[in-house]
Amino acid sequence: MASSAAAKRLEGKTVLITGASSGIGRSTALEFARTNPNGNLRLIVTARRTDSLEELAAQIRKETNDGVKVLPVKLDVSKADEIRGFVSGLPEEWRDIHVLVNNAGLVKGVAKAPEIDEEDMNIVFTTNVTGLINMTQAILPIFQKRPNGGQGDIINIGSIAGREPYPGGSIYCASKAAVRSFTESLRKELIATRIRVIEIDPGQVETEFSVVRFYGDKAKADAVYAGCDPLTPDDIAEVVVFAATRRENVVVAESLLYPNHQASALIMHRRPT
Ligand SMILES: NC(=O)c1ccc[n+]([C@@H]2O[C@H](COP(=O)([O-])OP(=O)(O)OC[C@H]3O[C@@H](n4cnc5c(N)ncnc54)[C@H](OP(=O)(O)O)[C@@H]3O)[C@@H](O)[C@H]2O)c1
Repeated sequence: MASSAAAKRLEGKTVLITGASSGIGRSTALEFARTNPNGNLRLIVTARRTDSLEELAAQIRKETNDGVKVLPVKLDVSKADEIRGFVSGLPEEWRDIHVLVNNAGLVKGVAKAPEIDEEDMNIVFTTNVTGLINMTQAILPIFQKRPNGGQGDIINIGSIAGREPYPGGSIYCASKAAVRSFTESLRKELIATRIRVIEIDPGQVETEFSVVRFYGDKAKADAVYAGCDPLTPDDIAEVVVFAATRRENVVVAESLLYPNHQASALIMHRRPT
């Protein structure tokens, strides 16, 4: 059976996804696997929760009849020393990475200054900002060894929050604005290469994101989506894989994704509930 252009472009590639234990990262791993289930695709799925990564790996192996190879690796992106040893700790045949999806990220709380908890602030910045930058710096040398100045894809998951700051989100918004700024600088720095730098900014997506934001309070998390039809993590995963599978000369530089009822960070149409 003939393969689609997208499937062909994933032949023999190795994709590394951070934050693959849940939500968008997990869906992205599944979507890559489903796009090329038997083309020597390798997926390195990373996060702190290894049980969920093992479950995901088993699901992908089963769905693709072992056509996609999956390597679950425990990695806390907020720990610079873990990232430093990450590539050298991979088995040799897994080090030729072609696509990095910098997805791991979170927000803690809705506090406003001057009530923002110092620890929450540190967690958000070391995960969303320095974690993403450290991962990029760890993988970029692999891309740069390829011809024409280098080749590979860096796909950063930003947010509407990085474009439009809102009250109660100052730390998260600042972290995602930093991602946006870093991404744009990087694209400019790498102009003489074939490395693609891509940013995907979701609006409202229902994942574990709000549960984490409200420190495990599911009722508060559910209220965020009351009367709305939020995006699903699969909706974002499809765009990630779309961006990674364009012809090499096409860069989906940035994209902003809303569910139909959303028109800005806070303009949301809600059905009466
Ligand atoms: N949901 C939304 O409405 C929304 C909107 C815009 C942007 N985003 C962004 O989308 C990305 C994914 O979030 P999601 O919505 O899919 O939320 P999620 O379901 O909570 O998933 C977040 C993922 O990040 C991982 N993670 C958190 N801290 C980490 C760390 N220190 N090291 C490694 N992995 C870490 C988590 O894994 P472990 O806990 O196992 O480590 C989990 O796999 C984030 O960057 C988020 O900011 C989400």
